[in-house]
Amino acid sequence: MIKLSQSQEYSIGGVSATEIAKEYGTPLYVYDISTIESQYNRLDAAFSSIGKRRINYAMKALSNINILRTMRRLGSGIDAVSINEVMLALKAGFAPSDIIYTPSGVDMEEIDIAVELGVNINIDSMVALEEFARRHKDTPVGIRITPHIVAGGNAKICTGGIDSKFGISIHYLDRVEALSRETGLKINGIHMHTGSDIYDVDVFLRGAEILFNAASRFPVEYIDFGSGFKVRYRDTDRATNVELLGEKLSAAFNAFCEKAGRDICFMIEPGKFLVSDSGTLLVGVNWVKQAPVTTFAQVNSGLNHLIRPMMYDAYHHIVNISNPFGEIKDYNVTGYICETDNFAQNRPINEIRKGDVLAIMNAGAYGYTMASMYNSRFRPAQVMVKDGRCHLISRPDTLEDILSTQIDLGE
Ligand code: LLP
Repeated sequence: MIKLSQSQEYSIGGVSATEIAKEYGTPLYVYDISTIESQYNRLDAAFSSIGKRRINYAMKALSNINILRTMRRLGSGIDAVSINEVMLALKAGFAPSDIIYTPSGVDMEEIDIAVELGVNINIDSMVALEEFARRHKDTPVGIRITPHIVAGGNAKICTGGIDSKFGISIHYLDRVEALSRETGLKINGIHMHTGSDIYDVDVFLRGAEILFNAASRFPVEYIDFGSGFKVRYRDTDRATNVELLGEKLSAAFNAFCEKAGRDICFMIEPGKFLVSDSGTLLVGVNWVKQAPVTTFAQVNSGLNHLIRPMMYDAYHHIVNISNPFGEIKDYNVTGYICETDNFAQNRPINEIRKGDVLAIMNAGAYGYTMASMYNSRFRPAQVMVKDGRCHLISRPDTLEDILSTQIDLGE
């Protein structure tokens, strides 16, 4: 997290943000490990009344191996959505039993590999479950269900509605039961993920009731409540009150287990909550361009590095770390890509000058992992700050990287 420190300069994990930008250059992703630690511990504490519990970090949010190792050190498991994420998690030292793989619509061969690797699996459609039963009837498997609840920060990240591509409809649970009976396939877990950016605790509690109903029909060893905990992107945003959620959901879960007389593992799989706030994208100002009614701060980055503002109209707070006390003026902060790629519009920011460094906040989740080489631009380097020291955890791309997958057929 980037903060204005007592010395009146911006710092990340106790290190001057200006110095970091000077040493590593911009654009640059910087992650403060202490923020990840405190978010993890806060979430774990919120659910501490549940004996058997597991936080599985949704690594799609930020998948650098050093971040994965940080999560492992904290006691987290992994939520993986692709077989490559599974491989990366194994490489980071996670045991197969600490990984839960919940893909959507992938081919059976990928699922076969997951079975071979021995990771936990959640299947998200009836057709795939039927095929799974044909091939692996002796491998216990979980199912992802769709609750038919629409919730989430915007339409693109709502995943629980009746028309959602995700999961097995709760209306098909009879079919799952029949399949299990006929083939002997054991359903060992129930999973649900309603969407991202859900602040309302009641949405999670309504989802929990649906999960409990489903879980009571199968010999489940775990119930996975997914994620979607909303973080604050701006001061006025409402964030999920995880302490309240922890209190209410833990009570409901413990009551369910007690009533059912079963010892079930409680799982959640947060991405954003754990890493969003820890990340800052530092960008340099190439030009301050005056147009008739707008002042543009043109930076050395774009939607190729952080697509959230363009993809979801997401708000990311921006501060000018080079001029923290300059006069406030309105700017459009915009990238260098050949499409409109605004990071902010009509945003009051301390006066921006050519060469200044701006910090785009809350960029830890779905920043680098959604970055691309569009316009044949390089993805930036990444640095993590731990115990007051900076560590380079990935270098920027190079022209060789871009060419490395291309096959030149010549003239
Ligand atoms: N579990 C499943 C099955 C998911 O699909 C996701 C996110 C998560 C867990 C983690 O959700 P989180 O705690 O991060 O909300 N790129 C979008 C968010 C899409 C998330 C996709 N799935 C964004 O930048 O807002």
